Amino acid sequence: MTKVSVIGAGAVGATTADVIACRELADEVVLLDVKEGFAEGKALDIYQTSSLLGIKTRISGTTNDYSKTAGSDVVVITSGIPRKPGMTREELIGTNANIVKTVAENVLKHSPDAIIIVVSNPMDTMTYLALKATGLPKNRIIGMGGILDSARFKCYLGLALNTPTVDVHATVIGGHGDTTMIPLTRLATFNGVPVSATLGSDKLKEISDATMVGGATLTKLLGTSAWYAPGAAAALLVESIVRDQKRIMPCCVSLEGEYGQKDICLGVPVSIGKNGWETIIDYKLSSDEQAAFAKSAEAVRTMNNVLKEINVL
Ligand code: LAC
Repeated sequence: MTKVSVIGAGAVGATTADVIACRELADEVVLLDVKEGFAEGKALDIYQTSSLLGIKTRISGTTNDYSKTAGSDVVVITSGIPRKPGMTREELIGTNANIVKTVAENVLKHSPDAIIIVVSNPMDTMTYLALKATGLPKNRIIGMGGILDSARFKCYLGLALNTPTVDVHATVIGGHGDTTMIPLTRLATFNGVPVSATLGSDKLKEISDATMVGGATLTKLLGTSAWYAPGAAAALLVESIVRDQKRIMPCCVSLEGEYGQKDICLGVPVSIGKNGWETIIDYKLSSDEQAAFAKSAEAVRTMNNVLKEINVL
């Protein structure tokens, strides 16, 4: 019996729950939200697709009753406010830090063995906060950002190459911020061939830049932040955990010297299985890439320091 809880029934949380249900990644999904009746409504709507789509996963909602999430194998935290057009993810820290801390503590009271996935922004700092506030073993706290950013990178590459995105392999590491993410253009391939064999350096720079502001572009178009790809990305992470697939995915995890950083959570390629993140893969970065990673870490560290200034840590 696999149980997954999703905290926050906003667009990202509901989409995560929907994809988990559609792909039958769990026997039971619980959606929780603070807004009265909201999670119950979203869950019932999703559950009413089950006879239409032939889905056996049970899905229910609750207004802030964490006892309903008891015994979850995986908990996805999406709670907090999303950004508005023109806002950076970092501007959300004051509001979201207190929310994420409270949520993580409540979750663990009822699911002490759960693996926690953090989606709330600013994600790298919220992952660090969850790690420090809960004191959980590092492998059980995973921030979801790089999977989404890599999906956007593959989308733009696929469009430029005029090929389905599934034939494109590309990874974004570093922070999940407009200026902190690092699309690894050098390692991007299309059916095993480097994308640089087909796309020129100007085009690749354009794609890399578009990837970095991928979330902001959607926020401007939608008036709020995106949800389909973020929800699908979180569900993919859940899949690799509950099916113990050991897929390699770029995730925000606690670094203890890997990639030259420590006392920080930042996006690196990791294998994902039933124990959470299991091993960090060394991509052997070039000196330019390593310098970009150090710069990204510096920006995220500045943001992490705000947690102390606002007395959350
Ligand atoms: C985005 C938000 C979810 O990148 O961080 O769309």
